[in-house]
Amino acid sequence: MRLCLLLFCVTAVRGWSDTRIRKFKKEFLFGVATSAYQVEGAWDTDGKGESIWDKYLHDHPELIADGRNGDIACDSYHQYKRDVEMLRELGVDHYRFSISWPRVLPTGLTNDINEKGLQYYDNLINELLKYGIEPMVTIYHFDLPQSLQELGGWASPLVVQWFEDYTRLLFDRYADRVKFWITINQPSFCFESYGGITAPGIKSKGLGDYMCVKHVLLAHAKAYRLYEKEYKNKYKGSVGISLSLNFGHPLNNKTENQEAAEIFRDFTIGLYMNPIWSKYGDFPKTVRNRVMKKSKEQGYEKSRLPTLSSEEIKLLKGSADFVGINHYTSVFVEARTDSDEIFEVPSLQDDIGVLLTQSDEWVSGKSSWLKSAPYGIYKLCLYLNEKYNYPQTFVTEQGWSTGTSLNDRSRVDYLREYLIALLFAIEDGTKVMGYTVWSLMDNVEWNAGTSERFGLYEVDFEAEEKTRTARLSALVYKRIIQKRVVEKDWTPDSWKISITPRSERDEL
Ligand code: BGC
Repeated sequence: MRLCLLLFCVTAVRGWSDTRIRKFKKEFLFGVATSAYQVEGAWDTDGKGESIWDKYLHDHPELIADGRNGDIACDSYHQYKRDVEMLRELGVDHYRFSISWPRVLPTGLTNDINEKGLQYYDNLINELLKYGIEPMVTIYHFDLPQSLQELGGWASPLVVQWFEDYTRLLFDRYADRVKFWITINQPSFCFESYGGITAPGIKSKGLGDYMCVKHVLLAHAKAYRLYEKEYKNKYKGSVGISLSLNFGHPLNNKTENQEAAEIFRDFTIGLYMNPIWSKYGDFPKTVRNRVMKKSKEQGYEKSRLPTLSSEEIKLLKGSADFVGINHYTSVFVEARTDSDEIFEVPSLQDDIGVLLTQSDEWVSGKSSWLKSAPYGIYKLCLYLNEKYNYPQTFVTEQGWSTGTSLNDRSRVDYLREYLIALLFAIEDGTKVMGYTVWSLMDNVEWNAGTSERFGLYEVDFEAEEKTRTARLSALVYKRIIQKRVVEKDWTPDSWKISITPRSERDEL
């Protein structure tokens, strides 16, 4: 039923319908993702330094939904061989994981290099390559060294150089084996970090968050240029950035809501895409004008949104081989009227000045913000194509939260429907290199602890060895990878998952 709804929505958008079987090409890469803080554990083992997430959740255990922080998590620091075994069971082409900055540089700076930390990632990368799985490395996934936070963190311009030094260390050590690099996961983390919601828990809405965005983007661009200049010729890898690209649909056809949706997209997509992918670079004009106007009204001499110099604009323009799409859900956007709720001032929400809702008809995940609206990914892809001239993309995250059950039918439906929508987008010209499910296994979902489970594998956090068990979705995803098609009615004969040799996989 839901599949029909999806097809209806997508075909209605495209203006035609048919029932042809659509296939992912052989070269299309299927994978799964995790991040260091969420799975590694071993938070102070073998010389690892403290990260902002270690400190934040140690200082505020009351903020974690079920009290479980990342101190032990899935214990992947010790169990990485089991993780790779699961990847082989799934038959994935790539594994996206992140490197913990304070694990390799406990002070954040290159004065103190932690060889044991570096060795851990060497071991993981070598284990992946042994079984023909492509490593995709995220250089930064939210876990800044606490020592750098104390020197200003992402609000300080100094962080750009610190990040470049850290990145050089990783390229020197791993670029011979790693061909896919993601500099930063979701620069929009700045709005949560400086909204006081996530680590480091600083409240500087509409100010510190914008400074953070500027420095994150510059840090990304510096890392990209470094690879381009010193490593690319030799190693031929690609460097991209992952953006949180959920989609804002206008609530209806009213002009004011269409305009509101466009403004929303300029702030949530354009803020990061424009500097890198647009013809003239820089932040979108609407964003610059709106924040400038509001800032003046609020008594600031200058805009709260930092400017980019012409040199910075040049550095940023074209600084990515692909855009990593992290897409989970959609929202409806409605223009605000004077009588509507007023947002905190100043803040991103107030600068955007729109109302957001989700449809009651969309199926809900375990996370309050997560609802299934598969045509959102189709609309997003077409939007990026039109606005940024068919950029090279890679879906670097998409996932669904449930409780602990192994029978995760809702995740199966979600993945199937979104993959079908993606096939439509590909058919309509979107350049997508691959697709990555968030996540390989249940992990520490930041403030939600382990109360929201995103894994294809369930993790028993009570067990000493953090036992991992395949869910129904793991078997379905394995089948999709093998067949390169989405079969809406397929169910496995048994729920046991085992490794399919690569040669047999290719014959299927
Ligand atoms: C983040 C992950 C997180 C997931 C689910 C993504 O935006 O990159 O770290 O676990 O969302 O909330």
